[in-house]
Amino acid sequence: MPEARTPLISGNWKMNHNHFEAIQTIQKLAYALNPEDYDHVDVSVHPPFTDLRSVQTVLQADDVPISLGAQNVHQEKSGAFTGEISAPMLQKLDVSYVIVGHSERRELFGETDELVNAKALAVLAEQMTPIVCVGETLEERRAGRAEGKVASQVAGSLAGLAPDVVGGLVLAYEPIWAIGTGETASSEDAQQMCAHIRRLVGEQWGADAAAGVRIQYGGSVKPANAPELMAEPDIDGALVGGASLDPDDFARIVNFRLYQT
Ligand code: PGA
Repeated sequence: MPEARTPLISGNWKMNHNHFEAIQTIQKLAYALNPEDYDHVDVSVHPPFTDLRSVQTVLQADDVPISLGAQNVHQEKSGAFTGEISAPMLQKLDVSYVIVGHSERRELFGETDELVNAKALAVLAEQMTPIVCVGETLEERRAGRAEGKVASQVAGSLAGLAPDVVGGLVLAYEPIWAIGTGETASSEDAQQMCAHIRRLVGEQWGADAAAGVRIQYGGSVKPANAPELMAEPDIDGALVGGASLDPDDFARIVNFRLYQT
């Protein structure tokens, strides 16, 4: 039996909350979770860049075992890249996880697998963990091309990474049609794709990498559907958008085990 993977529940706040609202939200979340709630689960929050310092301060001052995350990063360490934020800057703020290649970045900002790969490498170079997002559109799913699309995203986004590195990172399977729409993939469909991703990792990087890599599901995860999704053997956590803005809802998702039958 491979060692069990600790689920990672991540809250992606997207472009929501100024730093005052962020402080309130993280304080409420810390209050909603008990120390034992972190026993079998890792938790991260991904506020906008302008909130990171404020949230870091709250987490440190109150010794809250929630990891700080970012939503994006630039691939270069420094330089003339107006408006961008580098991995060393995030690392200095005690950021642990950085989302790369979120579908909104891919779709709205034209990020390619090649760029996502460069960003993942930049994150790893600063000893942080990338959360690499992949997922198909509705059109691709309907055309039977979902698995192929995800396969090419996995291969492209993780190109050149060593097996032990791949074994330590996080992938997020987020079917684009399920993001922010209230539509969730059925737990069977989500499991099937996450198992496919794990198989791909195994084929390309070996059995240890496949056993170690954590694969989150994302797309309209709510307190009501989290327990069923998290029960699937190849789903190792959730990347939560909308429901992570409500500290009580997010705390219930973190505590999915309490609601499993
Ligand atoms: P959602 O977003 O939970 O609001 O669907 C998920 C995501 O985009 O990470």
